[in-house]
Amino acid sequence: MDRVIDFINLHRDRYIEELKTYLAIPSVSALPAHAADVRRCAEWTSGELARIGMQNVRLIETPGNPVVYADWLGAPGKPTILFYGHYDVQPVDPIDKWVSPPFEGTVRDGEIYARGAADDKGQVFMHFKAIEAHLSQTGSLPCNIKLFIEGEEEVGSTHLDDFVRTHKTELAADVVVISDSTMFDRGVPSICYGLRGLAYFQLDLTGTASDLHSGSFGGAVANPAYVLGQVISQFKDRGGRIKIPGFYDDVRDLRSEERAQWKQLPFSETRYRKDLGAPRLFGESGYTTLERTWARPTVEINGLLSGFTGEGAKTVIPAVAMAKISMRLVPDQDPDKIAAQFEAYLAKIVPKTVQYKLTRMHGGKPWMTDFDNRYVQAAARSIERGFGKVPVFTREGGSIPVVSTFQQELGVPSVLFGVGLPDENAHAPNEKLDLGNFHNGVIASAYLYQEIGGLA
Ligand code: BES
Ligand code: MN
Ligand code: MN
Repeated sequence: MDRVIDFINLHRDRYIEELKTYLAIPSVSALPAHAADVRRCAEWTSGELARIGMQNVRLIETPGNPVVYADWLGAPGKPTILFYGHYDVQPVDPIDKWVSPPFEGTVRDGEIYARGAADDKGQVFMHFKAIEAHLSQTGSLPCNIKLFIEGEEEVGSTHLDDFVRTHKTELAADVVVISDSTMFDRGVPSICYGLRGLAYFQLDLTGTASDLHSGSFGGAVANPAYVLGQVISQFKDRGGRIKIPGFYDDVRDLRSEERAQWKQLPFSETRYRKDLGAPRLFGESGYTTLERTWARPTVEINGLLSGFTGEGAKTVIPAVAMAKISMRLVPDQDPDKIAAQFEAYLAKIVPKTVQYKLTRMHGGKPWMTDFDNRYVQAAARSIERGFGKVPVFTREGGSIPVVSTFQQELGVPSVLFGVGLPDENAHAPNEKLDLGNFHNGVIASAYLYQEIGGLA
């Protein structure tokens, strides 16, 4: 291991230059205009894997973006890791808020700024470098590894459930390893044992056949923008509790040990509030901020569109109004069941003065696991070696749809070892990754394969 770690320390600067090349490919899965870039990114990923000595490297086509697969299975009798990550990234808008161009990795104050730096190319690349260090220094890996890097995570992993179901033998492993989440805080590495699920919708309201002069017609018809406001105001009560009938039926209560453990985490609501620039925090009453974001469901309005939004004033009654609405779900809520409850609720609360259409967009199941297995313990030891600190155990509010599919279809534990930070602007302008965490993460990953190899 000494040679492997020495190699990583020696090549620290080269890694950053290589990562910049990866970050330069605008693999935005949400935008059709970037389809060719997405494919080029898949090809770059597979090229890099072949270069570092992985075997059976290939692009596997799906009805959407290709999956990158590679493996190294030269350690018979040793456990097999299935590593999952994504090479696609979120759109960059609003572009004018970026201090340096989103697809030019730029180092400032020990952080590399670019779209995908933390989510997820930087974290995927960290594992590539750990693998490269082992293969180049010892000619082998301490355990078997299958790599499975997809290109549609940021658009809901639509084709992945089918893919996992139809490629079960190829993906068979003893443990899934994922680095696509955050550490609890700077200097507080963590292992994540729960993610929220997601149910995403678009709601379109139509009032009249055309926009109308608000003087001539105002007062005679319902205004869809106004009705939309009335409708969304009925999603939650004043205490932040969701009013959709049946919504909480399958919500698993927080265990009291869990609540007690989270109270021990170094978390300040005041600092959190100030960092966010919020005048007050708001959420479901009776729960702390960590409980609200990790263990309680929520309904959010992600976007609104209606009427005249340009400069100046225009007297108009808009013909249509639209909202993007998403719900974060927790165990054991099911996105399909929630969608049906939401449809039934809308049928009841949308007034007959408008027509409405609800379109279901992507979804994913929540996930939670026990963390008293030997793989999680192996990860905890590796993180301690890489970061010099014992990790804490957290849940997260974000969603990675395929994790529950892995649990269901492959029946093996997942270990979520993320090195992003909560303030690294994932999905926002000026996304970045701390280079110290990246470096420690390469070391921790190299130890992780060693530790898992030792579990044979
Ligand atoms: N890496 C994130 C998920 C994440 C964020 C996990 C923060 C833990 C902490 C992932 O790339 C993501 O953004 N997922 C989407 C899923 C959606 C597009 C289906 C999300 O959570 O919004
Ligand atoms: Mn991600
Ligand atoms: Mn993301």
